[in-house]
Amino acid sequence: MDKTKPTLSVLDWEGKISTAPAKDTSIYAVELTGCTRQFPTPGGETYFAVRDINLKVVPGRFVSIVGPTGSGKSTILNMAAGLLNPSAGSVRSFGEPVIGVNRRASYMFQQDPLLPWKTVIDNVSLGLTMAGVSKAEAYSEARRWLEKVGLKNFADRYPHQLSGGMRKRTAIAQAWIVNPDVLLMDEPFSALDVQTRQIMENELLQLWQESGKAVVFITHDLDEAIALSDEVVILGAGPGSTVVGSYEIDIPRPRDLLDIRDDPQFVALHREIWGRLKIEVSKTYQTAMAEEGDVA
Ligand SMILES: Nc1ncnc2c1ncn2[C@@H]1O[C@H](COP(=O)(O)OP(=O)(O)OP(=O)(O)O)[C@@H](O)[C@H]1O
Ligand SMILES: [Mg+2]
Repeated sequence: MDKTKPTLSVLDWEGKISTAPAKDTSIYAVELTGCTRQFPTPGGETYFAVRDINLKVVPGRFVSIVGPTGSGKSTILNMAAGLLNPSAGSVRSFGEPVIGVNRRASYMFQQDPLLPWKTVIDNVSLGLTMAGVSKAEAYSEARRWLEKVGLKNFADRYPHQLSGGMRKRTAIAQAWIVNPDVLLMDEPFSALDVQTRQIMENELLQLWQESGKAVVFITHDLDEAIALSDEVVILGAGPGSTVVGSYEIDIPRPRDLLDIRDDPQFVALHREIWGRLKIEVSKTYQTAMAEEGDVA
């Protein structure tokens, strides 16, 4: 496969599922096998951020990873994106080893990825123009995406002229326009107020449902993870965090995210998963308190 280009022509995109491997569940959109990542500490020691992570994301599935702060969620996503090599273990995407940046994936960072000196349409079309698509074609595709995310009248604005929700919509269009096979999203909505966040979650689900793409979604928020996902993966407390639980979320789709928190199935799943997650959260809290005590 030519890794210098997006995997599919933008012209293939019309909400169609056009990736050949998408039906083959033996080929994972993301597959981490025995992945460990360590970092050197300033004192010359080794800190294990994550240890022996096994994660398989089937094409088309929406999988969330939830865990306490510092449990290695971003580290895992960075390894899936090819931005960070595992110290041990392997990362594959659609059957191929991820060496360098994962070209099958788009990454949506927690921080605002928009370039402040570029207009909305230039920000959205960036991934295409960088891949060699002509400006006219990239603009035409960007306009279609701006319409999809409700920003068609804001194409010529600059990021500082947008609300937080509009910036996130721009970032979503920017990530999706290159037609990735897998979306890697690191707490994309954590900075938004509760209402805007729910609107954005609804919009993300609609896009995802019509796309057939895999999503790996990092969040601190168990409600958000259950509401959106097919599967919720729980990471244990660090150091050396590993997967401590994986839960199927079989709430029927389409889901109405504005009312889902009252759904009895949601409530039961939340109780079960929180029962596991809170053990890890309290371990993290106790470690942090002990460290503070050491420093004092
Ligand atoms: N480049 C690095 N050098 C040293 N340590 C790092 C580096 N990147 C991450 N770590 C450490 O690895 C651990 C996991 O970090 P990571 O950012 O993956 O956690 P996280 O679960 O995403 O946390 P948060 O929920 O706060 O975003 C942390 O203890 C962090 O300090
Ligand atoms: Mg993080």
